[in-house]
Amino acid sequence: MSEPDQQRVVIVTGAAGAMGSEAVRLLAGRGAHVLATDADADGLERMAAGLTGAAGEVATRVADIADEAAVQGLVEAAVDRWGGLDGLFNIAGIVGDVSLTLEATTENWDRIMRVNVRSVWLTIKHCLPHLVDRGGGAIVSTGSYLAIRGVEGLGAYGASKHAVIGLSRTVAVEYAAQEVRVNVVCPGAMDTHMIRATYDVVCPGDPVRAEEIVLGAIPQRRLAQPAELAAVGTWLILDAPSHLTGQVIPVDGGRSAA
Ligand SMILES: NC(=O)c1ccc[n+]([C@@H]2O[C@H](COP(=O)([O-])OP(=O)(O)OC[C@H]3O[C@@H](n4cnc5c(N)ncnc54)[C@H](O)[C@@H]3O)[C@@H](O)[C@H]2O)c1
Repeated sequence: MSEPDQQRVVIVTGAAGAMGSEAVRLLAGRGAHVLATDADADGLERMAAGLTGAAGEVATRVADIADEAAVQGLVEAAVDRWGGLDGLFNIAGIVGDVSLTLEATTENWDRIMRVNVRSVWLTIKHCLPHLVDRGGGAIVSTGSYLAIRGVEGLGAYGASKHAVIGLSRTVAVEYAAQEVRVNVVCPGAMDTHMIRATYDVVCPGDPVRAEEIVLGAIPQRRLAQPAELAAVGTWLILDAPSHLTGQVIPVDGGRSAA
């Protein structure tokens, strides 16, 4: 991508969430125009209201990101408004129920796969032609420590995040010659409600002890701040060398290195 920041157009999914709202703030702060989408209408409104002095424009759109017509609609909205598309930052995701495989339900499996995998497939599929039209672009999707390791109680979630890597590597190879870069950022444990939803399986009934155990597995002994993950994704979209594609980048305080 050779366009200046001011002309970059980026779609951010999960934009009302902890990491998503930081991504919108950082990208718009750099002058990119951002189409910020989420299923949570109130959360999107709060996120937009909290943005002050952004150099780029931010448009919000409420959508179920696993619905194909909705995805097509929001991609068209971004292209109609700003004349093209340069980047996609997939952040929407759910953790679902936390339970061992024998107790886990097929409904939970389907729900997680729909949000965490189908959405990434649909957004990549519908954004790609516009990135190619622009002469290249960048796609970043959000994996997890569980995209590269297994953790008990999170089989469907882990499978969904492994799938994000599989698809991203494939698209990276397929569209490298068209200068579309595709990478995955993997949070370990971020300081959001999502990590706390897993505490009951880490140490049933004792969230304080559960957090000690989680922190004990992280060499830096702290949770990631959502802005740290958003910063790496923003760098991958706006700044990274064009040779950087098809990679999985853990941002986990050294957890996956241990
Ligand atoms: N929090 C962690 O510790 C952690 C660890 C590893 C990976 N992750 C991943 O990081 C990403 C962000 O996590 P977070 O903690 O900021 O979560 P979050 O819950 O704050 O944000 C996720 C957002 O996705 C949106 N969303 C869910 N289903 C949707 C749908 N069908 N359509 C549109 N939007 C939908 C939610 O409304 C929410 O705003 C997720 O992909 C998550 O799986 C988080």
